[in-house]
Amino acid sequence: MTTPHITSVSTEKRRFPPEPEFARQAHLQERAYAALRESALSNPVAYWENQARNLHWFKPWHTALEWKVPHARWFLGGELNVSFNCLDRHLDGPRANKAALIWEGEPGEVRTLTYRQLHAEVCRAANALRKLGVGKGDRVGIYLPMVPEIAVAMLACARVGATHSVVFGGFSAEALRDRMNDAKAKLIITSDGGWRRGNIVPLKQMTDDALHDKGGVPSVEKVLVVKRTGKDVPMKAGRDLWWDETLSHEKTRAEAEPVDSEHPLFILYTSGTTGKPKGVVHSTGGYLVGCATTTKFVFDLKDEDVYWCTADAGWVTGHSYMLYGPLANGATSLMYEGAPNFPAWDRFWDVVERHRVSILYTAPTAIRAFMRQGDEHPKKHDLSTLRLLGTVGEPINPEAWMWYREVIGGNRCPIVDTWWQTETGSIMISPLPGAVATKPGSCTLPMPGISVKVLHKDGTPCKPNEGGYLVIDHPWPSMLRTVWGDDERYQKQYWSEMPGLYFTGDGARQDEDGYIWVMGRIDDVVNVAGHRLGTAEVESALVSHPTVAESAVVARPDELKGQALVAFVTLRAGNTPTKHAKEVLRNHVAHEIGAFAKPDEIRFTDALPKTRSGKIMRRLLRELATSGEVKGDTTTLEDFSALAKLREEEE
Ligand code: WTA
Repeated sequence: MTTPHITSVSTEKRRFPPEPEFARQAHLQERAYAALRESALSNPVAYWENQARNLHWFKPWHTALEWKVPHARWFLGGELNVSFNCLDRHLDGPRANKAALIWEGEPGEVRTLTYRQLHAEVCRAANALRKLGVGKGDRVGIYLPMVPEIAVAMLACARVGATHSVVFGGFSAEALRDRMNDAKAKLIITSDGGWRRGNIVPLKQMTDDALHDKGGVPSVEKVLVVKRTGKDVPMKAGRDLWWDETLSHEKTRAEAEPVDSEHPLFILYTSGTTGKPKGVVHSTGGYLVGCATTTKFVFDLKDEDVYWCTADAGWVTGHSYMLYGPLANGATSLMYEGAPNFPAWDRFWDVVERHRVSILYTAPTAIRAFMRQGDEHPKKHDLSTLRLLGTVGEPINPEAWMWYREVIGGNRCPIVDTWWQTETGSIMISPLPGAVATKPGSCTLPMPGISVKVLHKDGTPCKPNEGGYLVIDHPWPSMLRTVWGDDERYQKQYWSEMPGLYFTGDGARQDEDGYIWVMGRIDDVVNVAGHRLGTAEVESALVSHPTVAESAVVARPDELKGQALVAFVTLRAGNTPTKHAKEVLRNHVAHEIGAFAKPDEIRFTDALPKTRSGKIMRRLLRELATSGEVKGDTTTLEDFSALAKLREEEE
């Protein structure tokens, strides 16, 4: 763990109060927000109970919160179903024939599913799952592109009480196998491919590899295959079934299984500080309360909105803010399958114009990439339907924030910079657009009902603008419940750094107005182009290559991607550090984890700098990777020559 050195006060002084026109129509305006926040502060549990009443419960809870540090249980005794809340609830009124999902494929086709149609599809899928022996307590792996079926599959799992584990389509067969084995999935839902930048991502092929090589995944009994690209794929008799054909035999009604509030809705694997990803477990009741409430308040969601969260469903943002949050609110959620710059750099703006998108939620990396390509791309399109913009996933630099505001938002749309994590389930810190003045680069204030602090390592509070550890000091409904199969890791990772407090792993400072400025991770987790990765995960991928003796992976700041990965690698004797060897290793990482995890730079070295006790001095490597020199303290270094020899080989 590195101590955050975040003492410099940013010179950013711009402040944007809520636009009066926006505030007038907002769910929460300044006064109402202040009152809500105040009452939530004095009694957070009562606040969350009030929010929980907006959902449909088959059976009411008897106890709102049971908190035995570090295990929280919310809405005890309550029973509900997420798919019922996202679908059935909306079928009795005018929302029945409203678009729940508007989907656009990368090649350009558009499909719209109304709430009634989506409900029918989900019921058919739920019936099919039941017939295949999938029910409460089973795990289902979902490895699909961004097609409507991914939403149908997730909701169908929820409907029958199965726990889904979505694996982002950018992950490799190896990564899929590890996750499916850890979750002991009974069934996998995949497709014959998905479109990305004009190419087909061979998801079925990778599923086959995952299930075939290195012992496979013994728990998997069946594979359901969605037809997306029409590409010919081998089907294994007795194991593989076509999704369409299987569903076509099923009725469009299916009972929604009432499940306990604490029933695990999903497991989502995320990177931590070790080589092995963690299966973050989320509940049903608390999770949905967190998602539904924050979606409504942060995005000021109205029935007329066309809301577009650009995240892939394979990440937590896709779970909470493409699917569950918006549908629980009866909103219209837009899904887009492909790359933001395909066939050209104006694809996003073209989508916004054609579908009349009013709320756009995307990542700073995308914003920076668009900014770099120039204003002419957004300027080609009518973006006047936009009324609110959001960002998530990494710190946003004020320049990108201002560009987003001016060029995309026409200086009229508030920006909500939302801070949260896979583990928190829903947004923790964000402005409410009708109530909170924004400052470029700050995610502003904790949500009502959420309490955060910035502390020194010893637990004492930091002064305004002093950098420290960001912690959450009261349990919240959508918090992770455990790490799948490894509660010890859960306790150690999140609750032992500062006993009784949830340790986020992020460094932050709080300014004189109480606004939070998140500075980024202070552990060995990095954020490359909005993708969360563990440096240890990449290291273990590298050392699994026969030519590698040792490796240390660090991040350096990158103008476009936020952070970039630099891998220092020592080769085994007899291997030559060539340009070709670098490419081989980068491809090996793509094979082990996924292409998005490829190091941006590989530097071969004879030895890594270590302390006398043998620990790799990552701080030195970070400095070296960032500025090309080492300024900090090197007194604990075992062998100075290792540092001197660190060099990039001649190219
Ligand atoms: C970072 C994504 C600054 C942070 C929802 C966190 C952010 C990690 C912001 C979680 C933000 C997320 N400003 N940093 N608005 N949002 N982060 O689990 O470092 O993929 O710990 O969840 O992203 O990444 P994850």
